[in-house]
Amino acid sequence: VVVLIIYESVYGNTREIAEAIVDGVTAAGNQAKAIPVADAPALPDADLLIVGGPTHLHGLTTSLSRRMAVKAAEEDGHRVEPTAGDEHGLRQWLRVLPPRDGQRAAAFDTRGDASAALTGSAARGIARRLRRHGYTVIDVESFLVDDSEGPLHEGELERARSWAAQLVSVFDQARRI
Ligand SMILES: Cc1cc2nc3c(=O)[nH]c(=O)nc-3n(C[C@H](O)[C@H](O)[C@H](O)COP(=O)(O)O)c2cc1C
Repeated sequence: VVVLIIYESVYGNTREIAEAIVDGVTAAGNQAKAIPVADAPALPDADLLIVGGPTHLHGLTTSLSRRMAVKAAEEDGHRVEPTAGDEHGLRQWLRVLPPRDGQRAAAFDTRGDASAALTGSAARGIARRLRRHGYTVIDVESFLVDDSEGPLHEGELERARSWAAQLVSVFDQARRI
């Protein structure tokens, strides 16, 4: 199974999850690559597409929320990802994603450690947009940060690896039927 992970990340937490997903997929003998959305191909070519980003203001990032995030990092002396200041994020990439009939996909986000009703979830918005473009979304998951700039909550990298391995195994079984 060939898996492509397209992610957005300001502080690096979502990138770490994306990398853990790569580990989880490849440990099970499959191929995986994680690409920041700034470098993402317009037409993703993979058996399974996984898209993830940070939750900003209850949903996907906006150019305003990205600027807010970068400004907060400047004030705190926290590092940001090389493409964090980009004008375009997942929202723009998903908007022009070419339609694919029934292609399998999954969505994830990072967000605060509280009920999704309080925090909102970028993954839900990502899943909705993928479905709108004809993708069949087989799972939606959130990974939690202890604070806005991180770190990830303890155990989340391990959970991301297991989630990815499980996802690929379910995908593979469905494909064989
Ligand atoms: C401008 C801004 C808005 C945010 N809004 C939310 C929110 O509505 N809900 C939430 O759970 N976390 C929120 N957060 C925390 C982010 O989810 C957190 O920074 C992100 O998961 C870290 O991912 P990254 O390191 O990949 O950027 C916000 C953070 C920023 C900077």
